[in-house]
Amino acid sequence: MARILVTGGAGFIGSNFVHFVLSRTPHTIVVLDKLTYAGNRESLTGLPEERFQLVVGDICDAALVDALVADSDIVVHYAAESHNDNSLHDPSPFVETNLIGTYTMLEAVRKHGKRFHHISTDEVYGDLDLNDPVRFNESTPYNPSSPYSSTKAGSDLLVRAWVRSFDVQATISNCSNNYGPFQHVEKFIPRQITNILAGQRPKLYGTGENVRDWIHADDHSSAVLTILEKGTIGETYLIGANGEKNNKSVIEMILRLMGHDETEYDHVNDRPGHDLRYAIDSTRLHEELGWEPAYTSFEDGLLATIDWYRAHPLWWQRDKAATEARYTELGR
Ligand code: NAD
Ligand code: TYD
Repeated sequence: MARILVTGGAGFIGSNFVHFVLSRTPHTIVVLDKLTYAGNRESLTGLPEERFQLVVGDICDAALVDALVADSDIVVHYAAESHNDNSLHDPSPFVETNLIGTYTMLEAVRKHGKRFHHISTDEVYGDLDLNDPVRFNESTPYNPSSPYSSTKAGSDLLVRAWVRSFDVQATISNCSNNYGPFQHVEKFIPRQITNILAGQRPKLYGTGENVRDWIHADDHSSAVLTILEKGTIGETYLIGANGEKNNKSVIEMILRLMGHDETEYDHVNDRPGHDLRYAIDSTRLHEELGWEPAYTSFEDGLLATIDWYRAHPLWWQRDKAATEARYTELGR
């Protein structure tokens, strides 16, 4: 039984990880989360009180981080500024949280000799051509496009350097696009679902031929647990579940599953520098660590996600108006 410090545990993937771990293992979790616009206490309700605690604070606060790391066995680091569109508008919190925040975490785990797992993204590799059979693997060179992905790439490199230079006991995972409950309405899939629930039309950037490789957040969580249990220190693992879909087909599927005509969406301005395609080859995770995803049908996972947003209007309505106001400013 371990005491796990989860940074960013009030965000989308972190909160899914907290629910996943507390419902399947005897571990205890302390979440450190700043509760930025992306964090939500309501994503952490119904958890066993004796095994869960939320500390509201900043991963750049060295004294706070030091005390929490000293008191933990394992640190799983999800906290980040995570949205590309926001990073194009104002990169400063991305540099602060993703780079200085990760540095602050690393210095604390170095001092206290604690096991560290760093959560990252496939976007550090840049993008692929649409009709190229190639997928990202652990030896693909880094080539990030946006302020978001470049600060995540920088954070990965800090972790690698702290492993090599200071013997920090760390692993890294780079995962593809996640979907599931508790995802902020600024992101692609929840934005479209909640638009339809609010009587608005879905919004497709550009032509919508861009491809993302979708994985359910629970499968991301099971992969991270597997890496914590069986991963080799200093190594990187790519996490993906063969879920490549273009954005247009995802919007059409959402409309169909929600009982609408597949043409009832708007084309809006494209994102500057919009990455064309991401695709993950997760052979290493399968062959070396024996991990398999539980969600084999994207459509079933998407339907369950739609049902979750339908059943939790108070959760998403909190952020919907402000998010759409920001998109209106950006012309998207
Ligand atoms: P999110 O934006 O939903 O959540 C981020 C959380 O971090 C929020 O709760 C926020 O309050 C917290 N946070 C932000 N700055 C902080 C700070 N300075 N101190 C403490 N807490 C802070 O993000 P997400 O989509 O859940 O992503 C989580 C992690 O997974 C990120 O590291 C992201 O790069 C990575 N990732 C995301 C995806 C995806 O599809 N969303 C895919 C691969 C990897
Ligand atoms: P997003 O969820 O922002 O994830 P990322 O940029 O990290 O992949 O967007 C996923 C894809 O959906 C991306 O190609 C941009 C596109 N997109 C839309 O077409 N419409 C939207 O309203 C949003 C938010 C994104």
